[in-house]
Amino acid sequence: MSDKDEDVQLEARLAEQDAFEPPEAFVEQANVADESIYEEFEAEWPDCWEQAAALLDWTEGYDQVLDDSNPPFFEWFTGGELNASANCLDRHLDERGDEPAIEWVGEPTDEANRTYTYEELHREVNEFAAALRELGVGEDDVVTLYMPMIPELPIAMLACARLGAPHSVVFAGFSADALATRMNAADSEYLVTANGYYRRGDALDHYEKTSEGLAGVDHEVSDVVVVDRLGDDDHGHALDSNEHDYDGLVADHDGATVDPVARDAEDMLFLMYTSGTTGKPKGVKHTTGGYLSWAAWTSQAVLDVKPDDTYFCSADIGWITGHSYIVYGPLALGTTSLMYEGTPDHPDRDRLWQIIDDYDVTQLYTAPTAIRAFMKWGEQYPDRHDLSSLRLLGTVGEPINPRAWKWYYKHVGDEECPVVDTWWQTETGGMMVTTLPGVKTMKPGSAGPALPGVDVQIVDAAGEAVEPGQAGYLTVQKPWPGMLRTLYRNDERYVDEYWAEYSDTDSDDPSDWVYFPEDGAKLDDDGYITVLGRVDDVINVSGHRLGTMEIESAIVGVEGVAEAAVVGGDHDLKGEAVYAYVITEDGYEEGEDLRERIVAGVEDAIGPIARPEQVVFTPELPKTRSGKIMRRLLEDIANGEGLGNTSTLRNPEVVEDIQQQVDD
Ligand code: WT7
Repeated sequence: MSDKDEDVQLEARLAEQDAFEPPEAFVEQANVADESIYEEFEAEWPDCWEQAAALLDWTEGYDQVLDDSNPPFFEWFTGGELNASANCLDRHLDERGDEPAIEWVGEPTDEANRTYTYEELHREVNEFAAALRELGVGEDDVVTLYMPMIPELPIAMLACARLGAPHSVVFAGFSADALATRMNAADSEYLVTANGYYRRGDALDHYEKTSEGLAGVDHEVSDVVVVDRLGDDDHGHALDSNEHDYDGLVADHDGATVDPVARDAEDMLFLMYTSGTTGKPKGVKHTTGGYLSWAAWTSQAVLDVKPDDTYFCSADIGWITGHSYIVYGPLALGTTSLMYEGTPDHPDRDRLWQIIDDYDVTQLYTAPTAIRAFMKWGEQYPDRHDLSSLRLLGTVGEPINPRAWKWYYKHVGDEECPVVDTWWQTETGGMMVTTLPGVKTMKPGSAGPALPGVDVQIVDAAGEAVEPGQAGYLTVQKPWPGMLRTLYRNDERYVDEYWAEYSDTDSDDPSDWVYFPEDGAKLDDDGYITVLGRVDDVINVSGHRLGTMEIESAIVGVEGVAEAAVVGGDHDLKGEAVYAYVITEDGYEEGEDLRERIVAGVEDAIGPIARPEQVVFTPELPKTRSGKIMRRLLEDIANGEGLGNTSTLRNPEVVEDIQQQVDD
């Protein structure tokens, strides 16, 4: 049989296969290889989570695993004390001081690459922590980090953690406005940023955007530290008097050490803002003990991280995935975490495969949106490289379609690596639903069962568990160490957003409290969960969560716009894309000029990631008789689907008009 025929046969076999067993070679060496862990954790819950806490070094042992006396304000490992930076650095120095902690692959040339051993990373984190302390940063001061994918970002995170100062990382791709909103919400008086970074070989200015953002901050910002990524001695700008050059600060503190500040298990490690249903981002609060235990345990059990690995997560640290699975999880376990500044298609579409080949990467954790792009570009790109160092593949951020899963499994993993499809969210701190790679059968398209000790149920609108084969709402019925503790300074919204739907909110009994992540899901006969997507007004573009309200308010802020509705429509690569339906004000013309201003308005308010795929002008929006916008209908239009019954509308005729425009 020719190679070509063999390929065709293989494709046909893969296309039909809907279950895959963990590869034997993987099972033999897996961190978790015994299925009994599911029963064990159920029987011993919540004490089972001592196994996660045991992965860390505590300076003071905890008294209680779970304090559930005040639901839904659950507390974990209470009374315990630890420092996250000491756990990610100091304790590895004896055995792994000379081993790489971070392999950084930069743009635009390979000359820019840097390796930080644990020793080196420890040194620079100490120096920068000393510098921050001298600037006045103390325990519980929120430090905002508006930084691209450069090593100074994890260094700054760990320096903050060392001081007990929570960090709030704002994705560098977010706009100046988004930075200001987040600094205001957190009353953050310190900012670390960079003068720029590289994208597809071009230097991008980041300082100007930062300055613009700072102009929108409603309180005094004491100090701004600027990393010179672009190599201009003067940063390309004169620094203001409260602005400091990062290298200068670190040099001034050459060899300085800072004792890691002992933090209570429940003390805040960081804040991360994420989009919600209202226009205001939610400040998700994560703690030192529970979060770090969760990041470490899931990295070990699911990503199978071992100290000698070179593990590569292609996410941006500006999102939770990068926090948990580039920085905290891998470094807590003392492994080598590879971090890449650029995009997968520069200088060519084999960039990731080149990196895996060059560094002998052992695990790759990426997103379905990237996998769909790889698939479109073709297998000739991974085929050019030796990827045999890979042992495990992972995906996160959105549902992965079986075809993309199988492509990843075959063309990247050579059918020898388990693929873990991991469902979780910013709020959960780490993975919740996925297969344990050394234990469970994989089913493409389905994330898998909940992790051991995690109690997920798919329920109907009344909160009753659905039968296998049925769709419903994903809920988490018991607390877990990595969970968010609250929304920063907004306990009420925390209860409303995540608990009110399915809990008896008057009850003190913890078992009456159910966490609702606002995802729909389907259950199969084996208890495997297929996540269907968000059921709130949040859309998922390339694995990133965007609130439709946030985008709508940006659009309504554009001169000439009277009203706007934003929905998600299916998109081949991005999963979902932004569709904006816009009514103009009297006297303004619908057309290219306004369209461009709308797109610019969204980019200014949020960032290019929220850019509308299509702007549809319409004289009216489809509304129910009570005046509610029929979003479902607008979604169907965006997806080119049949519209069913429109008779409950106040203005059914408008639907056809809109549909006509989208088709054009
Ligand atoms: C939302 C969370 C988790 C870190 C990256 C995104 C969706 C996430 C999956 C998956 C189907 C997924 C959910 C979730 N999602 N992973 N494996 N399968 N959907 O974090 O921005 O907090 O978004 O992403 O809808 O609620 P996030």
